[in-house]
Amino acid sequence: MLIDTYGRVATDLRVSLTDRCNLRCTYCMPEEGLQWLAKPDLLTDDEIVRLIDIAVTTLGIEEVRFTGGEPLLRPGLVGIVERVAALDPRPQMSLTTNGIGLKRTAAALKAAGLDRVNVSLDTLRPDVFKALTRRDRHRDVLDGLRAAHEADLVPIKVNTVLMPGINDDEAPDLLAWAVREGYELRFIEQMPLDAQHGWKREGMVTAEDILASLRTRFELTAEGAEERGSAPAERWIVDGGPHRVGVIASVTRPFCAACDRTRLTADGQIRTCLFATEETDLRAALRSGAPDEEIARIWRLAMWGKKAGSGLDDPSFLQPERPMSAIGG
Ligand code: GTP
Ligand code: 5AD
Ligand code: SF4
Repeated sequence: MLIDTYGRVATDLRVSLTDRCNLRCTYCMPEEGLQWLAKPDLLTDDEIVRLIDIAVTTLGIEEVRFTGGEPLLRPGLVGIVERVAALDPRPQMSLTTNGIGLKRTAAALKAAGLDRVNVSLDTLRPDVFKALTRRDRHRDVLDGLRAAHEADLVPIKVNTVLMPGINDDEAPDLLAWAVREGYELRFIEQMPLDAQHGWKREGMVTAEDILASLRTRFELTAEGAEERGSAPAERWIVDGGPHRVGVIASVTRPFCAACDRTRLTADGQIRTCLFATEETDLRAALRSGAPDEEIARIWRLAMWGKKAGSGLDDPSFLQPERPMSAIGG
């Protein structure tokens, strides 16, 4: 079991498969991209599967989420999914992606054992998409979503970050679209995890702003707390149901007390939190020939040191060195 000093138990493992991305969302990274991890520093497919095996067989991990950067850029993804699906116990498996490339891979991912996908999409307007991501690939994301739907990678969740003056007028249109298409839409408050370190609290669209905007067109009823569990999204029933909309209010309504996550970066570091300032090097242990029990011991010890929360409201808050794209969203 991965338990911390606050009694929280991690059952959800988020694995970043690459720090690279084929988009350049302005709130995430600069136009020129970032200094990507070098190939020898990345965990190999075998190393990733071995760590996930240890996590599910001895550490109590029940759900594995693959993230990036953009995880579909990892050549071995389908093979990794297939091997994780063969583990006993078999964990739930999901993928958080920008959707580009899903058209090509959705069916193979489903056949390999992936359960579901979360797709990031911030706008319904191709021109806004192009300005925001610096790439003209809106159509590819919509095609990817459709392919995921056809491959039955459901429920499909769509993640949206709103930015003032750019797409914050689109919330009701996005919800109407998601309801029509059968996707569960979640709005995410922007966190200080951008590579440029340009985040400002005043420049963030808050959960309160988002709900007010949605209520101009929809009737929203809060879902019961018991249904939320440790999920980061608070959910509302749309117009009496059955559709739901979520808000992930990491900044204004943090859910750290219920956090059930542990993270593995593409270069094999354990992070106990998105906002952790320290990492624990599992890659070095792996590559020095440590047996499974030793890896498990290091992992348990790292989690024991997990902080109470993100620390976002502390006057001494410092943004972590790694940006979101290198941590895994
Ligand atoms: P499901 O609801 O089970 O599909 O998972 P999820 O919402 O955790 O998955 P996803 O990868 O789609 O994450 C959505 C967003 O939640 C991320 O982009 C982050 O903004 C936020 N998030 C994910 N994990 C954490 C976390 O550990 N802490 C905080 N504060 N936010 C997180
Ligand atoms: N704060 C909140 N969400 C972010 N994402 C990227 N950067 C941030 C940030 N600083 C979102 C992406 C994607 C998800 C994985 O994380 O838009 O939907
Ligand atoms: Fe890529 Fe996600 Fe960053 Fe956009 S937010 S550039 S899709 S890693």
